[in-house]
Amino acid sequence: MNKFTAKLNDVNSPLPNAVKINKKWLRTSSPIEVFITDGNKLNFYQNKNYVSLSNKKNVDIVESKNISINWDKIIGYTEIKAVITSALNTTSKKKTHILIIGSAGTSKTVFLKVLEENLLTQKNDVHYLDSTTLSSSGVIDYMFNNDVRYCLLDEIDKLEKIHQNTFLNLLESGILQETKSKKIRKKSMKDTIVIATGNYKEKLIEPLLTRFLVMDIPKYTKDQFFKISVKLLTEQYNKEKSIAEYITKEIWRVYTEKRNIEPNMRQCVQVATLTGNDKHHIDMIISALDKYSLRVE
Ligand SMILES: Nc1ncnc2c1ncn2[C@@H]1O[C@H](COP(=O)(O)OP(=O)(O)O)[C@@H](O)[C@H]1O
Ligand SMILES: [Mg+2]
Repeated sequence: MNKFTAKLNDVNSPLPNAVKINKKWLRTSSPIEVFITDGNKLNFYQNKNYVSLSNKKNVDIVESKNISINWDKIIGYTEIKAVITSALNTTSKKKTHILIIGSAGTSKTVFLKVLEENLLTQKNDVHYLDSTTLSSSGVIDYMFNNDVRYCLLDEIDKLEKIHQNTFLNLLESGILQETKSKKIRKKSMKDTIVIATGNYKEKLIEPLLTRFLVMDIPKYTKDQFFKISVKLLTEQYNKEKSIAEYITKEIWRVYTEKRNIEPNMRQCVQVATLTGNDKHHIDMIISALDKYSLRVE
């Protein structure tokens, strides 16, 4: 079943695959579920290929959303997954924006990538934006130039303060606004939901931090690191259990014990992708890492 958001007085492009037949009717290519509300009151329900637009000019059709996310790639974090799913499925006009904050290598980027993949397959206007690659002002330009319904913003803490303020304004008012060389740009983005990640909360301006629903991921304990890494390498990287344990143990030894660097599962994944289940091969890669990999993270 299709799901959508539309406003009755904006029926020119409200639904994917929907055709406006005349002033009163909208036809969709497959059955859709429609809730028409007047403010927050539910007035009307249909489940067919035609949607009556009637004369209720000011009534919104709000979506009966059913966005489902396949979270299988991410191990654990049941509650965070539930919170994000709820934020995506809210039919409230007020949007909840989520910020996942935490140390490197705790799967924050994977969260955004999983969301991107799932929302894309469900044909949503979803955009993954990496603050580092796009640059701070590049992120804002991108938001002005594209239909961003779901904004997946990686490493929001890399944004300059001025652009953090632009986001603060967007989260507060639903309006993207920027003044540059005395010129004002403005764009209404009331339906946009922002899911962001960041490494350092200290780098974010306080008011922005408070506008988000913040999920603060603590760094992995040794026990968690081992459990998650072994599960990841066996389930997603074709490793036998003993080999997955071996890679994890060696990475922990080389980085965390010897160099006192915070564990990062990325290194386990790197070794896993370079090797099969042959221990000698793994030993060779590990000793190369031990000898030549960078001493700082
Ligand atoms: N809970 C987890 N579930 C699945 N993969 C994980 C988990 N924690 C860490 N990883 C792995 O660690 C690596 C780093 O994750 P990433 O999302 O890039 O970290 P971050 O963005 O938090 O720095 C990825 O290869 C990811 O698969
Ligand atoms: Mg990341």
